[in-house]
Amino acid sequence: MQNTVTTDPGNLMDLDKGQVSRRIFIDRDIYEQELEKIFSRCWLFLCHDSQLPKPGDFITTYMGEDPVLVVRDREGKVNAFLNVCRHRGNRLCRADSGNAAVFVCAYHGWGYSNDGRLQAVPNLKDAYYDELDTTNWGLIPVAQLDNYKGLYFATFDPDAASLREYLGEFTWYLDAFFDRREGGVEVVEGAHKWIVPCNWKFPAENFGGDAYHVGWNHLSALKTGTVSASRARQLEGAPLIGEIIATGEGHSMICRGAGDYSEAVIPEVREYDEQVAAEAKQRLGRRWEHTNPVVGTVFPNFSMIRTLAQEFRVWHHRGPEAIQISSFTFVDKAAPQQVKDALRLASVRSFSPAGNFEQDDMDNWQACTETCRGVVSRRLNLNYQMGMGRERFNEDLGAWASDFPISEVSQRNFYRRWAELMA
Ligand code: FES
Ligand code: FE
Repeated sequence: MQNTVTTDPGNLMDLDKGQVSRRIFIDRDIYEQELEKIFSRCWLFLCHDSQLPKPGDFITTYMGEDPVLVVRDREGKVNAFLNVCRHRGNRLCRADSGNAAVFVCAYHGWGYSNDGRLQAVPNLKDAYYDELDTTNWGLIPVAQLDNYKGLYFATFDPDAASLREYLGEFTWYLDAFFDRREGGVEVVEGAHKWIVPCNWKFPAENFGGDAYHVGWNHLSALKTGTVSASRARQLEGAPLIGEIIATGEGHSMICRGAGDYSEAVIPEVREYDEQVAAEAKQRLGRRWEHTNPVVGTVFPNFSMIRTLAQEFRVWHHRGPEAIQISSFTFVDKAAPQQVKDALRLASVRSFSPAGNFEQDDMDNWQACTETCRGVVSRRLNLNYQMGMGRERFNEDLGAWASDFPISEVSQRNFYRRWAELMA
């Protein structure tokens, strides 16, 4: 369903009053502006280094609605190109991942080497009279590509600030997920990919800091015993611990207690977390004694979790009313195999298309989106007032932090960044 009214994004939220117009979740014009102003300018997550171990290894993904091919060339360098044939624009590579020296288009057979050069054109001599300048018709690379601790990001904006600058203080929070042990992490082979009929911002803001919904939306799952340590204590009547942090640029995280206190649900993973706590503390420093990052979002659409599951995922939008989730389990490279296996199973059971937690979330994100279709319903504002004015900049955490473990400081941070980019 489309709303053809042109809308000025600057007038769609009043974050000092904690209000956001519902139109940003349904309006086609706003969606098109998001593609231009957010997804063609921000650094967007592509893949983890461990997904491309050998020359020729590739993975296909998206930046906004643009299909992207990420491939390690024969020299070992990782490149990212539009996954679009330069002849008629066919999708070049149809596979999710694999290994290839050459990518041959299914339509007329143009072939590109894994460093992006146009290498073979059928009938080049006779039909083209050898006059086609193949050096000008290679794959189109992204404007900038970089990685942080093995996490590859790219941007279409040649003038964008560096990835390090983009991530800012949030790098430490990424370290807590991806670099707490020597050797970092690796991605478990395979992925979950599925479509959910919801606007991309609902899951992005949820993972970025919606600690509010857990005790209610997931209550039945919690009652089965699938429950993190801090929530287990809460169910027994103890106060919930931790804070929601927002480092600026729209990135945010739910943190729970101190880092050496495991939030894992599976006993062998909890034991493992306790065994590696000293190494993690040595690598992550003093901040680890204060806080334990467990679920977060790098603006705009890259999220991660390490409580019930250990996954990272991208919310790829498919129009204003749908997303494709691409979700991957990751494990410490140095972890014993039984811990890796336990984490893979835990991820499937909790956060996957059939996961007991994921199903609760998807149902609500879908309904939050669907009700925006009503012409009257969409005129309403949503409420983001929880904990407003109570957040403080915490020097120890290098971030704005809530003074209560449940807060909407992260969502206000997310939409403030959204509004800045859209303005
Ligand atoms: Fe790719 Fe024609 S569209 S070769
Ligand atoms: Fe949830």
